[in-house]
Amino acid sequence: MAVKSKSAWFCQECGHKQLKWSGQCPACQQWNTLQEEIEIAQETQRFGSTSRTTEKPVRLKEILHTPTKRIITGLGEFDHLIGGGIVPGSLTLVGGDPGIGKSTLMLQISHTLAKQGLTVLYVCGEESTQQTSLRARRLGIDHDNLLLLNETNMGAIKAHVENLAPDALIVDSIQIVYKSEIASAPGSVSQVREAATEFLHLAKGKGIATFLIGHVTKAGEIAGPRVLEHLVDTVLYFEGEKHHDYRMIRVVKNRFGANDEIAVFQMQERGLVEVTNPSQIFLEERMKGTIGSVIIPTIEGSRPFLIEAQALVTETVFPTPSRRCTGLDQNRLALLIAVLEKRMGYQLWRCDVFVSIAGGLKITEPAIDLGLLAAIASSLRNKKIDPETTVVGEVGLGGELRSVPRIESRIKEAIHMGFKRCLIPKRNVAGLSDSLKEKIAIEGIEVVDEAVELLLR
Ligand SMILES: Nc1ncnc2c1ncn2[C@@H]1O[C@H](COP(=O)(O)OP(=O)(O)OP(=O)(O)O)[C@@H](O)[C@H]1O
Ligand SMILES: [Mg+2]
Ligand SMILES: [Zn+2]
Repeated sequence: MAVKSKSAWFCQECGHKQLKWSGQCPACQQWNTLQEEIEIAQETQRFGSTSRTTEKPVRLKEILHTPTKRIITGLGEFDHLIGGGIVPGSLTLVGGDPGIGKSTLMLQISHTLAKQGLTVLYVCGEESTQQTSLRARRLGIDHDNLLLLNETNMGAIKAHVENLAPDALIVDSIQIVYKSEIASAPGSVSQVREAATEFLHLAKGKGIATFLIGHVTKAGEIAGPRVLEHLVDTVLYFEGEKHHDYRMIRVVKNRFGANDEIAVFQMQERGLVEVTNPSQIFLEERMKGTIGSVIIPTIEGSRPFLIEAQALVTETVFPTPSRRCTGLDQNRLALLIAVLEKRMGYQLWRCDVFVSIAGGLKITEPAIDLGLLAAIASSLRNKKIDPETTVVGEVGLGGELRSVPRIESRIKEAIHMGFKRCLIPKRNVAGLSDSLKEKIAIEGIEVVDEAVELLLR
């Protein structure tokens, strides 16, 4: 078949395509991200690679409902994360910073699948089969059903997949796979997108559970096109600080389960180990009764756990004070500082403020506001917060406390971890059951001043 080729300019950040060069990408406003790439005419290859079977429209009610049988990996936290096991024929993107543990996790999952008698093909284009097998040995992984393939050419990979018909396919990584029909370099937007599309057809057509490992850019997004995220069924992201051994895997998108679910793992010599009780781990290293420290019951995904937030407020020696935070949103911190200045009259414009979530976690929910604010106040006033008290609530611009979702689960987790008192938004108090109130002292708060006074009396 004659292949018509044409070129276009692609934004390497967001995948936006246009016919002319421009300095700034009109889609994502980034500068100097457009690169020319040769692509083959869409139609010719789209038809070449389809292997779908349903051509005629079918009445919805006529579609047979065979409940999807999921593959249980046996890594309980991972199964829970993706909604109760791997769906055959699903395409999953696994992203994360270099060295965070993507290959390790996928190798471990390959092993659990192989042990169940499933055939797993691990395409290790990134590292040699030698390197991968060395890692496998360190992790104690060895199985007849687990096959390694060192190949980066899409055509060759496809031939092997069709030949072997594995139950699961791991591609480490998608950025390294290239189609020879496309002139642009591996890792470029058109290469990544076209290769991923091929894997999509393979996965759906043959019912192969497929995992694509993807690198992330400095901005924290999967390198190459955002379009990958639309293409796949599920997107998992690794989070965690280089210097901590905890790894949080977050579901960013899932067509077969809940979004925003998380699982916590710990990186050890023998691989990633599930953390089934995150609260315990994150509170383990805490020094009770430290100034500027507070415990917050947070919820990520479906799961409540307790975290420690720490703040350090010192007088600044520079004309502009610095505000630094790890594990939370900088804008949120700025807002809380402004609220403290306005409502409490604290002169924070003269102070450097550092806030961090212990353990290298990233928390995005606003329910941790009140805790962070209390930690800052504690450090500024040099008074400790009672170590048996937990604090939760979203702070509004006026210093008012907004209710938080799923308060009961949070309080239960606090009780479970032995805490004696919990400060919560007043609006949340009404719905609480009496049995809960018997187990822990609950105090409903309306404005932040009240909370600060109660905590730092
Ligand atoms: N001998 C070891 N003992 C304990 N941990 C190790 C050991 N060797 C490697 N690691 C851990 O494994 C991590 C590398 O994991 P892995 O190769 O799975 O990451 P990755 O996300 O696939 O990285 P890349 O982006 O480079 O492919 C290292 O950062 C280190 O923390
Ligand atoms: Mg790797
Ligand atoms: Zn762009």
